[in-house]
Amino acid sequence: MEVGINYKRISTLADLRRDLPFTKEVGYFQTGTYGPTPDSVVQVVASAMRFEANHGPATSTSREAMREPEERARRALAALLNVKHRELALTTNTSQAMQRVMRALEWRPGDEFIVSSLEHVSTTGISWELERKHQVKVITLTADQGDAVFLEGVKSALSPRTRLICLSEIASADGRRLPVAETCALAHEKNVSVVVDGAQAVGQVPVDIRALGCDYYVGSGHKWLLGPMGTGFVYASEDHLGAFNPDYVPERHPWTVPGTPAQEPSARSRAEIGTYNHALVIGLGASVDIMASIGLSAIEARAAQLSKRFRDGLLEIPGVKILTPLEPGTSAGITSFMIQGYDRARMEYLSTNLWDKQRVVVKAQWLTAPPRAELVAVRVSIAGFNSEDEVDRLVEGLRDEIAG
Ligand SMILES: Cc1ncc(COP(=O)(O)O)c(C=O)c1O
Repeated sequence: MEVGINYKRISTLADLRRDLPFTKEVGYFQTGTYGPTPDSVVQVVASAMRFEANHGPATSTSREAMREPEERARRALAALLNVKHRELALTTNTSQAMQRVMRALEWRPGDEFIVSSLEHVSTTGISWELERKHQVKVITLTADQGDAVFLEGVKSALSPRTRLICLSEIASADGRRLPVAETCALAHEKNVSVVVDGAQAVGQVPVDIRALGCDYYVGSGHKWLLGPMGTGFVYASEDHLGAFNPDYVPERHPWTVPGTPAQEPSARSRAEIGTYNHALVIGLGASVDIMASIGLSAIEARAAQLSKRFRDGLLEIPGVKILTPLEPGTSAGITSFMIQGYDRARMEYLSTNLWDKQRVVVKAQWLTAPPRAELVAVRVSIAGFNSEDEVDRLVEGLRDEIAG
C-alpha cells in the first residue's frame, strides 16, 4: 500500500508564493529565524501522519509504506547538498547537529579550537563548555573585517594543537559570507578539520558541500529550506565516518544476529538514535523538492534583486548604519543595520510598530553572543518568495518610524 502523498509541483517563485497564503497579508522578513512552511508541505506531513494513524504506526503496512517516501526525502536532501546518502544524518535543528560534531571529537586538555567571531550563540555555548570541561583553548578570529583579515588570522592561529575550525557559511548576525573553501584548504594543509555552520546558507544560496571541501557541515530544515519546524541535519565526510560516534553507538547494533559482519558506518547509524518523526522527514523532502525544482540560483538571484531594492531605500534614511557588506558576492538576502541612538528597547518598539502599521516582521536583536548593549541591530531576511511591495512597505515603515 502507498501513503498516497500528493507532492504538488512548485517550480516557480510565483507558485511558491501562492503556496504561502499568509504572504497576502504579512511581509515576512524572518526566514533567517523560522522559514514559513508552504501549504503543500503541511499537506504532505499531514498525509503521512494520517496514514500512520489510520493504519497503526508500528504495523507492517505503515512501516513499509513510509519507507519509500522517507528514503526519497533523505536522498533528495543529499542530492541538494551534493553529498553521499551515508554521509548525512537528520537532527532536529542546527544546534543539535553542531553538538553531534563536537561530541564526536575526543577533546584533550590543551587542544585548540578556532572559531570565527561571527558564530551563533549555540556555538558560543559549546566553546565555553569545551574550555570548562576539557581545558580546550578557544581562539576567536575577527570575521567582520573581510576575508583577507580572517584568512590571515587562520594562518597564524593554526598550530600543532589545533583540532577544529568552526565558521558559518553565512553569518547569522550580519549575513556576511565567510571564506569557507579557502579556510578548508588552509586547515587541510595542517591536517585540521573544519565544521561549517550552514544554518543561514542552506536554502538561501546554492550549497555544494563537496566543493567546499569541509569535514562536517550542519544546517536546519526550518529556515531557508522552508521545511517543517524541528528538522536539521549533520554531514560528516566519508573519511571521518569511522570515527564519527557522538554518542554510545557500538559497531554492531545489539539486535544484530550474532555472526553477521558489522555494517559500514554511516552518519545516520551513528547520529540518529531512537524514534523520530517520520512525517517531518517526509515533509522536509517535499520542501527540498520545491527548492530543487525552483533552483537555488534562481532563488538567490531573486533575493539579491529584492535586497538591492531594500538596501537602496535604507541608504537614504538618515541615522541608519548598515552592517552587512554591500559589495557584490559578499552577502545574500540578510541585511542587518543599526540606527543611531537606538537601544534594545527602542529597537523592539520599532519592530512592534512595523508590525502594527505595515504588517511586516523583522528581527531586532543583539549582534553578538554574549550580548553587547551597543550592538543592537535590526536583521531583515529577504527570501525568494518576498515581493517588491513588501520591501517598499518595510522601507516606508522604517523611514516613518526613524523620522519620528
Ligand atoms: C548560523 C546559525 N547557527 C545555528 C543556529 C541555530 O539554529 P537552530 O535553531 O536550528 O538550532 C542559527 C539560528 O538562527 C544560526 O543562524
